[in-house]
Amino acid sequence: MAQRPGFNYDEANVPSYELPDPLVSESGNPITSIQDWENLRRPEILALFEDHVYGRRPDKPENPTYTVTSESINALGGKAIRKQITIRFDENAFPQALHVLLYIPNSIQGAAPVFVGYNFNGNHTIHTDPSIHLSTSWMRTNSNGNINHQATDEARGKSSKRWPVERILERGYALATAYYGDIEPDHSEGWKDGIRSHYKTDEEGKSLELEDWSAISAWAWGLSRIVDYLETESAIDAKRIALIGHSRLGKTSLWAGATDERFGITISNNSGCGGAALSRRAFGETVKRINTSFPHWFNRIFKSYNDNEATIPVDQHQLIALMAPRPVYVASAQKDLWADPNGEFLSAKAASPVYELLGLKGVGAKTQPPLNTPVGGHVGYHFRTGKHDVTLYDWEQYLDFADKHF
Ligand code: GCU
Repeated sequence: MAQRPGFNYDEANVPSYELPDPLVSESGNPITSIQDWENLRRPEILALFEDHVYGRRPDKPENPTYTVTSESINALGGKAIRKQITIRFDENAFPQALHVLLYIPNSIQGAAPVFVGYNFNGNHTIHTDPSIHLSTSWMRTNSNGNINHQATDEARGKSSKRWPVERILERGYALATAYYGDIEPDHSEGWKDGIRSHYKTDEEGKSLELEDWSAISAWAWGLSRIVDYLETESAIDAKRIALIGHSRLGKTSLWAGATDERFGITISNNSGCGGAALSRRAFGETVKRINTSFPHWFNRIFKSYNDNEATIPVDQHQLIALMAPRPVYVASAQKDLWADPNGEFLSAKAASPVYELLGLKGVGAKTQPPLNTPVGGHVGYHFRTGKHDVTLYDWEQYLDFADKHF
């Protein structure tokens, strides 16, 4: 996003703030060992994010079904196996289904590591491959080949710039993607046609009312369902799953990575407010603005922090820290001031002491690095030129990061 008027884009006007310490327990005790992190502090922080930001979620479905709706061993000119899979939850108990598109490189021996990520506009937009099923789900936009919120053939390949499928395959990775709107259409009443209208209890069997969770929490739950499926797929190495998400789907990826440790790497691309950026800076998009424009994204309690960021018991660096010891990557774009690029960096930096406690290298930079200069160890970061987007440059860094850690 560029600059919307009426918000702060000036470092000099960032309020002074104090971040909650990821390495001090809620009762005030310093966290000094891996055991304390894993058994005490990490669960505390996770619960705070559930209660105050994203909400809880249901358990995994008892009897999901996986229907392969099409398969080719010779897709993309022989480069890949292409599979399309429909995931149904709880034995067709309700109509919502998640349609996964999977490409697996033909060039490698053995099970492939995989990038998993939601797309914004349907699987058919990520590539012009004519065999990709056209989504029949509700589409948020009415442009780019969508008419009356339904996709048409015109929409095929419209997001292909964001999905360098051949390059990902060439680098030896599989790609699994799905349309996030299959889980819950992205508008304030979307829950009526999404999984939030069906599940009424959380993982512990406690009652789960609509605003006890959120669209982001529902979408994140859907990403975990893709992992359930990938664990059954012998051509995929489910121990090497990298999760990627851009913007609102970057917020979703961070929450999914926090709640499901099967994601080996979590990548936040330009996720901004409610994602990687520190809320207390109120730079660019604010908590009040996001809750007003997107009331369905976060839980009921998060709304009480409108114009009151300093009182949130967590800040977003602690979300990043929840990935520890798993590698995490945060990326910003120069023209994306709405998402507070420096706030995304500072968040990655403030998460780093947790990695360091675990004997790992964090972001390893004191200030935001120069443009197009990736930094970091287990916490990766780059600040690229250009606008709010996912580019080939971003992908090359993620592929390098995955090579390094897998
Ligand atoms: C809006 C919103 C952001 C979000 C973005 C997107 O700009 O304010 O929080 O990240 O949409 O998802 O594209």
